[in-house]
Amino acid sequence: MAKSKWTEFTQNAVGTEQLKSAGSEFKSGWKAPSNIAIVKYWGKKDGQIPQNPSLSFSLNGCYTQTQLEVKYSPKGFSLTINPEGKEFAPRIEQFLRNVEPLFPFLANVEAKVTTANSFPHSVGIASSASGFASLALCLCHIEEQIKGNLGFGSPFLRKASYVARLGSGSASRSVFGGWQEWGYLPELPNSTNEYALSLSPIVDPKFFEMRDAILVVSTSPKVLSSTQGHALMANHPFADARYAEARINLNAILKALRKGDLKRFYDIAESEAMTLHGLIMSSKNQPMLLKPQSLQIIERIKAFRTEKGINIGFTIDAGPNIHLLYTSDVAQIVEAFVNEQLKPLCENQKVIFDSCGKGPELV
Ligand code: PMV
Repeated sequence: MAKSKWTEFTQNAVGTEQLKSAGSEFKSGWKAPSNIAIVKYWGKKDGQIPQNPSLSFSLNGCYTQTQLEVKYSPKGFSLTINPEGKEFAPRIEQFLRNVEPLFPFLANVEAKVTTANSFPHSVGIASSASGFASLALCLCHIEEQIKGNLGFGSPFLRKASYVARLGSGSASRSVFGGWQEWGYLPELPNSTNEYALSLSPIVDPKFFEMRDAILVVSTSPKVLSSTQGHALMANHPFADARYAEARINLNAILKALRKGDLKRFYDIAESEAMTLHGLIMSSKNQPMLLKPQSLQIIERIKAFRTEKGINIGFTIDAGPNIHLLYTSDVAQIVEAFVNEQLKPLCENQKVIFDSCGKGPELV
């Protein structure tokens, strides 16, 4: 754990006495989006510190909605979770216990978490990113209520991103809408391994028109959890080269985002996706996450792009599903292609059409 930031965020932390004198019972509800990484975070050090910086955009339709209620209890900490959130109960409980130094009032509360995802299970969309981002926002909001503060400025979002990161690294990015970066990059001012930054002020407007058609090749449970995945990078023969390449790709993609260079953007996005899977396949126990249909979809995307001469691309998370990326101006032609040529390759013809979103909302 990086002590400096931990100390920064524990300053003025709210304890049980403040909770009691401010009213004993508080609640907060937030919707936070999932995000799709373009430059991938793959490999970490202790304390959820990434081995390389990453970049993503937030989705619009794929989100988690969470409500957190806390009530003073002299009996210590207890937790109840709604049936829909039960699957995540052990991770949520562990997380709330881990962040107690940041939110000391948690030591003496009955906490109630109600959480639900807008997207179906097992479609390869990271619910941990949206889940921990929404819970972190609720915690920070309750802390602000106890302190009597209003408003959600940059320090609030910075802390929420820091807290979300402790639950799941990629969740640090889901605290922001539009485009975001997480991890230290010498060339990017204010970048840090501790929390994400919004890149929206420097991104060309055309990138806010980004669409993501999620081509669901398989809904089978994940073969490789992200915890197992990050661990594959320890002692990976290509690890150092990968971390260096991620920095080069991130600098190049930042340039493309600033200049509105879609072609360069898609080139890098695809190289990052194939590198992620190359790293997975060349790891010690060599899991293979891509399915024959994943490869067929990639071939068809490439052929369609060449035939039509339009700018589109793809990315892939740590699973078999392909994310087709395109902008609104070509949406009609691309979506017709998806429906005719790609849908038949998806499990039960499942495609989720999503787009770049505006970020978390108080509910
Ligand atoms: O945040 P985690 O630990 O679930 O890891 C996310 C890993 C990838 O989704 C493959 C890449 C990323 O940057 O989101």
